[in-house]
Amino acid sequence: MKKLNVALIGCGFMGRTHSNAHRKVNNFFDLEYQPVLKIICDVNEDKAKAFAAKWGYESVETDWRKVMANKDIDLVDICLPNNMHMEVSMAAAQAGKIIICEKPLARDGKEGEKMVKAIEKAGVPNLISYNYRRIPAITLAKKLIDEGRLGKIFHYRSKFLQDWTISKDLPQGGDALWRLDVKVAGSGVTGDLLAHCIDTALWLNGSMEQVNAMTETFIKERKHNLTGKVEKVGIDDACAFLARFSNGSLATFESTRYARGHKALFTLEINGEHGSIFWDLHDAHRLQYFDHKDEGSLRGWRSIHVTDSDHPYMKNWWVPGLMIGYEHSFVHQLSDFLQGISSGKPTGPCFRDGLATQYVCDAVLKSAKTNKWEKVKKA
Ligand SMILES: NC(=O)c1ccc[n+]([C@@H]2O[C@H](COP(=O)([O-])OP(=O)(O)OC[C@H]3O[C@@H](n4cnc5c(N)ncnc54)[C@H](O)[C@@H]3O)[C@@H](O)[C@H]2O)c1
Repeated sequence: MKKLNVALIGCGFMGRTHSNAHRKVNNFFDLEYQPVLKIICDVNEDKAKAFAAKWGYESVETDWRKVMANKDIDLVDICLPNNMHMEVSMAAAQAGKIIICEKPLARDGKEGEKMVKAIEKAGVPNLISYNYRRIPAITLAKKLIDEGRLGKIFHYRSKFLQDWTISKDLPQGGDALWRLDVKVAGSGVTGDLLAHCIDTALWLNGSMEQVNAMTETFIKERKHNLTGKVEKVGIDDACAFLARFSNGSLATFESTRYARGHKALFTLEINGEHGSIFWDLHDAHRLQYFDHKDEGSLRGWRSIHVTDSDHPYMKNWWVPGLMIGYEHSFVHQLSDFLQGISSGKPTGPCFRDGLATQYVCDAVLKSAKTNKWEKVKKA
């Protein structure tokens, strides 16, 4: 196996999921490349040191620029808050590194365009971590749609619901709470949660033409952890939008962090001429499938337990019937990416795919302001 020296930047939540993938991928997938955990980089040195010890990184760095100057590093894995994605990924491209970057691509389309230009000019392999594409049930849904089993698609419906920002006492800014700070996050649930729904939708159902959205910020002011002052909240706490896809289907999307009782309820449903599918993150290994061509008296929704060896990715894990989880989507994503580097046929989502999602987010946020249908730019 050829070694790929990895520097991972940002040892938070995603730093863990990506490190886990780098460590496991060669245990379960036969690949030409083997990631080697060389450098963990984080501004918080104590956290980075503890992380290096736990995950087996060879060295610790606190300045990401030094990572770019290090000739030993082949792959830069960016697990930083959204405001850092552009600067760090463009520097990585300039240094000729292979790039994995967490979603969303950027804070908005303008940043995203600069990134895509720089990355494509550098010609480096690149991936945006929209990992839900690699949940076996969702990959199976893609296969069923591409085989034409659903026929013409009429409806797409998706939501992502949480409830963790309801308290008005929750501050914004700083560690973990950067998601509530618009300067760092770019937007609220639109870029954070709906971006996942949108990427999956564009992958399964093709491009989107126009959107009509409403957003709300329920708590208008919060204390900022870094300044200590009470500041205006600039993010969208909730967003719902209508969309028209290029294939003629109609769609509804909804996301909020104010749906009491829901922690990460990501669902999608697609209704076509011959059938429908439904998927729910809380039951991630199941795909609900209705086939109208079934014999009438036996017709009904099937609950497919996506754990058999002929289901996507599953022959690489345990024996039929045994489940895998959330973290495996990151292993699959890395495996596909490394296979793409070997074959020279890149697997998405690449930065340009990330820009397509960014353009939808931009149009959604614009429509919420103008109260009008807004066209979605093509990436
Ligand atoms: N794919 C997914 O499902 C998914 C899930 C969660 C988060 N994300 C994305 O992953 C990214 C990171 O989110 P997270 O939840 O891991 O955040 P986090 O807050 O848990 O971790 C971010 C880390 O970056 C470090 N950091 C901040 N600024 C830095 C700098 N200048 N140099 C070095 N380190 C710095 C912080 O100290 C922290 O350890 C975000 O873009 C987020 O949108 C994706």
